[in-house]
Amino acid sequence: MSARRKVTVVGAGNVGATCAQVLATRDYADIVLVDIKEGLPQGKALDINQMGAVLGYEPSCTGSNTYEETAGSDVVVITAGLPRSPGMSRDDLVQTNEKIVGSVTEQVVAQSPDAILIIVSNPLDAMCHVAKSVSGRPKERVFGMAGILDTARFSTFISWETSASVKDVQAMVLGGHGDQMVPVVSATTVGGIALRKLVADEKIQAMVERTAKGGGELVNLMGTSAWYAPGAAAAQMVDSIMLDEKRVLPCTAYLEGEYGIDGLYMGVPCKLGPGGIEEIVELDLSDDEREALDKSAEAVREVVGVLSS
Ligand code: LAC
Repeated sequence: MSARRKVTVVGAGNVGATCAQVLATRDYADIVLVDIKEGLPQGKALDINQMGAVLGYEPSCTGSNTYEETAGSDVVVITAGLPRSPGMSRDDLVQTNEKIVGSVTEQVVAQSPDAILIIVSNPLDAMCHVAKSVSGRPKERVFGMAGILDTARFSTFISWETSASVKDVQAMVLGGHGDQMVPVVSATTVGGIALRKLVADEKIQAMVERTAKGGGELVNLMGTSAWYAPGAAAAQMVDSIMLDEKRVLPCTAYLEGEYGIDGLYMGVPCKLGPGGIEEIVELDLSDDEREALDKSAEAVREVVGVLSS
C-alpha cells in the first residue's frame, strides 16, 4: 500500500483521463480514476502507469467502476457527464448532467467526507451549485474549473498576436463559463506591459470574442469538447491544493457579495491551498468589465434557474 495522499478523478473520458495523466506525471499522489463504463478506467489507468516507465514516474493510478477505492481522497475532480456535440451550448446539458453530477457527488462524499471537490462537468457554473447542494460541503471546498482554461485560450491568442512567449503573458478571464465570460483586458500584460499598449483595440476585441467562443470553436473542429487544456487546467488546481502552492487562479467560486454578486457560482481569482479556496481576490475592474461581469452573472442565474433543486 502506498502512503501517498489520494486524488480521485471521476469520469474516465477525455478530460478526466487527461487530468489523471497530468497528475500521474507530477508524481506526488495516488490517483483513482472512476467511470461507470466497464474496463475503461482500468484500461486508462494501466496505460497511464505503463507510460511512467517511459517518462519516469511511479505507477500510481488505479481504475475502478465503483467508489470504494476512492475512500479517503484529499481532492476529487468530477468530470462525469455528457460533453457538448456540435450545435449544442454548454447549457443544453443542464438536465442530464444535473442527474449525473448529483449522483456522483453523493457517492464521492460517502467515501471521502472531507475531500475538496473540483467540478469540471458542464454547464460548469450550474454543476457547481448541484455539487454544493448535494454534498452540503462548505463553499471553500466545492468549486469549479473554467477560468484557467478560458485564460489559457486568451493567453495563447495573445502570445501569437504579440510573438511573445505565452509564459510572459499574464491574463485573467472571469465570469461564467459561457459565451458571456469576461476576459479582463485591464489586468492583462505581456512582459509587464499592458496589452492595450501593445495591440490595437480591434485586435484585442477579436481575441476576446474568440476566447469567449473558444469551447465552441473546438467542438466545431472535433465534434466533441476539448480535453488537453481542460484536463491540465483541473490538474493545476489540484497541484495548488495538494502542494500548498497558494496560486491565485481563476476558479468558479460561490460568491456572497464579492464583485457585487450574491449567492452564485462565478469565475473569480482565488488563492488555492490545502483549505481549498483560501481567499477570493477582488480585482479593480473597469466600468465596462464590471458591466460585462453583471451580464455574465445574469446568464449564469438563468441556467441555475433550470436546475430541479
Ligand atoms: C470547453 C468545455 C470543456 O470550454 O467547456 O472546452
